[in-house]
Amino acid sequence: MKAVVFDRYGDVEVLQYREVEKPIAKSDQLLVQVRASSINPVDWKIRQGHLQLLSGFNFPRIVGSDISGVVVEVGREVTKFKPGDQVYTFLNPITGGACAQYCVVSESAASIKPQNITHVQAAAVPIAGLTALQALRDLGDIQAGKKVLINGASGGVGIFAVQIAKAMNAEVTGICSTKNQDFVKNLGADFVLDYAEIDFTKQTQKYDIILDAVGKKTFAECENVLQTEGVYISTLPSFDNLAPMFLSLFMSGKKAKLIVANANNSDLGVLRELIESGKVDPIVDRTYSLEEVAAAHTYSETGRAVGKIAISIEEVISQ
Ligand SMILES: NC(=O)c1ccc[n+]([C@@H]2O[C@H](COP(=O)([O-])OP(=O)(O)OC[C@H]3O[C@@H](n4cnc5c(N)ncnc54)[C@H](OP(=O)(O)O)[C@@H]3O)[C@@H](O)[C@H]2O)c1
Repeated sequence: MKAVVFDRYGDVEVLQYREVEKPIAKSDQLLVQVRASSINPVDWKIRQGHLQLLSGFNFPRIVGSDISGVVVEVGREVTKFKPGDQVYTFLNPITGGACAQYCVVSESAASIKPQNITHVQAAAVPIAGLTALQALRDLGDIQAGKKVLINGASGGVGIFAVQIAKAMNAEVTGICSTKNQDFVKNLGADFVLDYAEIDFTKQTQKYDIILDAVGKKTFAECENVLQTEGVYISTLPSFDNLAPMFLSLFMSGKKAKLIVANANNSDLGVLRELIESGKVDPIVDRTYSLEEVAAAHTYSETGRAVGKIAISIEEVISQ
């Protein structure tokens, strides 16, 4: 099968589009013909070698985590899926495997793809959508009427966070640059602040939940604008947040938390319902082909994507 692989850590030049062996599904796995993937910053951080302690030195490695595709085979213990089912999920980013014609997925991580969107749109959802959902619901205990601030509202995680928070009837403030103000308003945010003009950590307004989707502000910076029992959630581990995150495990009051997204059937089902009911739109900024994954990584590395960056694998399938 065709895949995008790398044989050593490095910049985008290490990515190669070439023939590799097709994976074999274990008894509790599905073999999926991948129709689309999408880029997450973790994909190029792993390719650059930033997580070598976890990712190790087994090469070649297939890049990518998010997938949407069609089940072609199921292992003998699989009961929930059958060949022909259209599924979406994310693979463990550390092992990768998504930017390929086929991948294997464990039954517990897969879920039926939303019916009203394409594979390209569905592949934009898993990591970013689950991060937003699990952060706001599980770590933030989001409720109707709560004041929620999303820093990085125009990015992959941000677009889902704004829309999910609105779907849960929270009052949402989105933070983005000047050029993305209208975009974030159109996502449904009640208030949009331009970080070039206003430092949200210096205002008088206070929030119940601050989701720093882009890891640009520390808990210490946000503490003053958190309500007494407010929760700060970051998508990125950082040295500055270590102590407050540890103390938050034992102390009451303002809390600092780190979200680590987890792929599971039930939460992908929640996202499917939000998408099928029209409450969440997985907005795709640009779509690249499988051969163009290096260009897609280069664009993601600029940090300026507006929504998600998708990879279409349909043309390879039809070859
Ligand atoms: N822990 C987890 O499970 C998990 C899961 C997913 C992602 N992440 C991490 O979360 C981070 C964000 O991921 P993503 O997919 O959302 O990234 P992304 O799509 O690449 O984010 C791009 C967005 O970031 C915004 N941005 C850049 N600088 C900003 C600033 N100073 N303040 C506010 N917004 C800013 C940009 O908006 P402007 O152009 O308007 O500035 C752009 O729209 C990454 O570091 C990723 O590794 C972690």
